[in-house]
Amino acid sequence: MTEAILESLSSIDSNILNGINYNSRDYARKILNYPAMMVPSVQESIIKTLVNDLPNETSMIDPFMGASNALTTGMRYGTNVYGQDINPLSVLISQVKTNIYSEDLNAAYSLIKERLKRSRSLKVDVDFKNIDKWFKKEVQIELSQIRRAILREDSLYIRKFFWVAFAEVIRLTGNDRTSTFKLHVRKEEDIANRNLSPKEYFLKICKRSIEDIFQVKRELALKDLIEDGDYKREVDINWGDSKDIINTDKSFNLLVTSPPYGDNHTTVTYGQFSYLPLQWIPVSEIDSEISINYLSAIQEIDKQSLGGEIEADYKNIESKIFSKSKSLKEFFNGFTDIEKKKARKVTCFINDLDITIDNIIQKMQTGSYFVWTIGNRNVNNKEVKNDLILIDLLKSKGIDLFIDLERDILSKRMPGRNNFSNTMNKEKILIFKMG
Ligand SMILES: C[S@@+](CC[C@H](N)C(=O)[O-])C[C@H]1O[C@@H](n2cnc3c(N)ncnc32)[C@H](O)[C@@H]1O
Repeated sequence: MTEAILESLSSIDSNILNGINYNSRDYARKILNYPAMMVPSVQESIIKTLVNDLPNETSMIDPFMGASNALTTGMRYGTNVYGQDINPLSVLISQVKTNIYSEDLNAAYSLIKERLKRSRSLKVDVDFKNIDKWFKKEVQIELSQIRRAILREDSLYIRKFFWVAFAEVIRLTGNDRTSTFKLHVRKEEDIANRNLSPKEYFLKICKRSIEDIFQVKRELALKDLIEDGDYKREVDINWGDSKDIINTDKSFNLLVTSPPYGDNHTTVTYGQFSYLPLQWIPVSEIDSEISINYLSAIQEIDKQSLGGEIEADYKNIESKIFSKSKSLKEFFNGFTDIEKKKARKVTCFINDLDITIDNIIQKMQTGSYFVWTIGNRNVNNKEVKNDLILIDLLKSKGIDLFIDLERDILSKRMPGRNNFSNTMNKEKILIFKMG
């Protein structure tokens, strides 16, 4: 049996693994351009094979769920899904993408369209530090009109759908450059020349997203996965710091995830990307369990994420984590003393990842599969071999690599701006089996 699974995983077409010709709107992937999203069609062939091999019903977890592309792919194969992320915007978008909407969504869209046509008030409802730097006055006025119109909607899940569209509008109509995930204000003349209407954007994005959301529903219905208007299996989406706790009593037999590849500050600044939208969306609309003060500073979410801070007991961390990963130790030893600060950041990140893996393992059943998509990155022109480090970490916990697959990263959304993506053109998909 093992031979057959290995054979079917190793024969996955390289065009599929490389994501050639994937449809960017499939799986409602486009409803918010969250950073570093996984490509569902790439994970699909792997998930399908593993679901067929698992003896019992599949329960899948993604402890770094991002925009829940792994989870929505699992749903197409009838898995129970559990997702968790430290970023409130990830939670919001995942709540929407895993929910099954009824025709009420179309009716709510017609209603909000009418409300927006009639809204004339010039009142700005939100205030935060530097609001005028990030949004022109006329944009603030229209964003406030949209915000009020959303709050008048009765259904929480329909409001959540509108909040996701609103988040995308904020990203597109603010003064932040969309060419990078870091917050960078546009040039003054560029700002002066931009005459965008958030209301128009909002209606366009809602319309397109409704089509995409209903397309997902049709796909699930075709596979007989909808019952009484809901997904037939369990869906659970939580806010949480996976380094602290995996916030569920459930257990799982399949993990499909893509963790951050280093601390957010120097890799992908998921927190900075989310900072402005989150200033406009009330936290009570997302999840009452959220316990970080993410509105306090632009860097807050990134600081709280894996590897966000160099820990005080650094020396102990170093000896503990080097004993688990020879590859990390080799990387670290390649640095001169003056360069070591950067290498220490990598060590802290890997230590946080290691603690998170311990939390995850507690929730995994014997015989589970772990599918990790991970890329190596460069720090000071030296390669951090995240793939080998992850293999070392799991081996130190008695979990062996089952098979590794490689994929080319064909689209780099942030060339040049981000020294991280610049250096990466391959990713590994590492599949482990827990004995
Ligand atoms: C590469 S993205 C995940 C992509 C996602 N699996 C998908 O299907 O598209 C990495 C995610 O890890 C999250 N993250 C970073 N540190 C975390 C932590 N300590 N706990 C939970 N999530 C964390 C980030 O907020 C980000 O959303």
